[in-house]
Amino acid sequence: MNQPKKLWLDAEGRKHRYLHSQTRETADFGFDEVPADDKARRVKKHFDSVAPVYDFMNTVLSFGIHYAWKRVAVRSMHLRPGQRVLDVCGGTGDLAALAARTVGPSGHVVLYDINRAMMLAGRPRLDRSEMGDRIHWVQGDAEAIALADGAFDAAMVGFGIRNVTRMDRGFAEMYRVLKPGGTLMCLEFSKPVNPVFRWLYDLYSFRIMPKAGDLLAGNRGAYTHLPESIRMFALPEEISAMLEGIGFARVRFRRLTNGIAVIHTGRKPSAAEPFA
Ligand SMILES: C[S@@+](CC[C@H](N)C(=O)[O-])C[C@H]1O[C@@H](n2cnc3c(N)ncnc32)[C@H](O)[C@@H]1O
Repeated sequence: MNQPKKLWLDAEGRKHRYLHSQTRETADFGFDEVPADDKARRVKKHFDSVAPVYDFMNTVLSFGIHYAWKRVAVRSMHLRPGQRVLDVCGGTGDLAALAARTVGPSGHVVLYDINRAMMLAGRPRLDRSEMGDRIHWVQGDAEAIALADGAFDAAMVGFGIRNVTRMDRGFAEMYRVLKPGGTLMCLEFSKPVNPVFRWLYDLYSFRIMPKAGDLLAGNRGAYTHLPESIRMFALPEEISAMLEGIGFARVRFRRLTNGIAVIHTGRKPSAAEPFA
């Protein structure tokens, strides 16, 4: 493992290891720098291995807080009944379910994920629910979304963009499939702001999380990779700059739980408000 000296890279380190790698032939996979065309295979292997325990482990490791983050994140899109929503990297469907409840029986949610095992782990529960008819499951790559231009009122991605080899391509695809005036939402892990809290979070992430992964899921590797990938991820200001560069307007972010998670929102400008 090629572990950096500092867990949270400074701006220069991140520029080299993360943002710079976006334009090069390498990508980050946890603390390892891997050939860009091999990251997707590693991500697939990772999610194949965690799929059966994904929901359970999320709840245990976050003490259930991820449900509250997801509720706040979906509320931040101000969805209305009848709208069409895309859930990129939708996995087992938590965000899709929350959106489907809000858009109601006349609305639609397309859950789009590259990993069949993740979707199969979540689908039976949602198929049995009243939202089953409103959620459509599509397997595909976030970097080349196989859906029409301007088809959605809102597009969201929860804890997924970190895994996409070319994050900027993923966001650009979300921009493409949004209607003018449509809303983007991205929920991702980030760096806690308070240094003492961050120290505790690092301790928890690197001492307890891998052990819990081993004990509860028989998978130490996956729960070592998870905190590493968070440390290598771009900071909120860097994500905002990327979204603005793609063309999103009204780009904002909001930190949750001292910055462990961050909600990013933006809007695809409509013809009536090109510089909104
Ligand atoms: C951490 S899970 C998040 C699942 C769900 N959104 C949630 O909040 O619980 C990340 C998901 O991203 C998916 N994913 C990773 N790379 C992808 C890609 N290139 N295209 C589409 N989905 C991808 C994985 O298969 C996985 O289901």
